[in-house]
Amino acid sequence: MHDNLRNFSTFAVQIAKEAGSILKNGFGSTFSIQSKDGRHDLVTEYDQKVEHFLKEKIKIVYPEHEILAEESASGQFFTEKPCWIIDPLDGTVNFARSIPFFSISIALCIKNQIELGVVLNVMHDELFVAVRGHGAYLNGKKIESSKTQHLKEAILATGFPYDLIYNPNHCIEHFIEILRLGVPIRRMGSAAIDLCYVAAGRFDGFWEISLKPWDFCAGALIVEEAKGITGTINQHPLQPFITSSVVATNGHLYASLLKQLQLK
Ligand code: IPD
Ligand code: CA
Ligand code: CA
Repeated sequence: MHDNLRNFSTFAVQIAKEAGSILKNGFGSTFSIQSKDGRHDLVTEYDQKVEHFLKEKIKIVYPEHEILAEESASGQFFTEKPCWIIDPLDGTVNFARSIPFFSISIALCIKNQIELGVVLNVMHDELFVAVRGHGAYLNGKKIESSKTQHLKEAILATGFPYDLIYNPNHCIEHFIEILRLGVPIRRMGSAAIDLCYVAAGRFDGFWEISLKPWDFCAGALIVEEAKGITGTINQHPLQPFITSSVVATNGHLYASLLKQLQLK
C-alpha cells in the first residue's frame, strides 16, 4: 500500500475512534435536538459536536485538503483537491431516540475517486475499513460479501428519504415489489452501516433512493472491496459528489435486484 494511503487510513481510523467516544458519552444523555425540515430530519448537538471535532482534526493534519461534511454542506460541491467526505452521525433519528444503532462515516476522495472508507458502528465497536485495491476489513479481519445466488433467498436492507411524502420517487413501490417476492427487508436507520453489512455478508443487498455523498461514499468502497457491486439505480457508477439512488449487492445479485427495482 502506498505510504500516503496508509497514513490517511491510520489517521481516519484514529479520529473515527475518538469521535466514537464522543457519541458514546452522549448516547442516552440529555441533549438538544432540532429539526431541519420541521419533522423527522433531525440534527442533535452531537451531530454538530462530532462534525466540528472531525473537521478541526483534519484541518490541523491536512490543511491543504477540502472537507464535505453533512452539517456544514451547502449547495453543489466539487473539488479537484483531496476531499474528506463525512457524516458525523449517520442514524441521527436512532441516536435521538436512544436506539443504539448509528455510525460515523469518513471517506477520502482523491481525483474524483474514493480511495479510503471508514465506518464505525459506534455502540457495537465495529470498525469497517477499506482502502481501494486492498480489501475490506471489520476490526482488522478481512470480510467478503455473501455468496447468495438468487434474490428469493436474499435478505435485503433499505432506507427512506426524509422528504418521502413530497418526493416519493417510487420508493414505496420498490419496497412493495421486493416484499411481494417474499424477501425479508430490514430498515436499520444508518445507510453507512447497511452498506457495511452488505460488505460483511450479513445482508445480500441494499438499495435506497436519494442518498447523499456522506451517506454512501465510505460504505460503497467497503462493499466494492468486499467483492460486492455498487451503482446507481439507473446503472451508472456512483459519483463521489452526486446525490444518488444507490444499489449495492454481493457479486451475484446485482442484475436481479436492479431488474426488480425497474418499475414497469
Ligand atoms: C440517514 C440514515 C438513514 C437513511 C436516510 C439518511 P442521517 O442519515 O442513513 O438510514 O435512510 O436517508 O438520511 O440523517 O441519520 O445522517
Ligand atoms: Ca446520513
Ligand atoms: Ca448525519
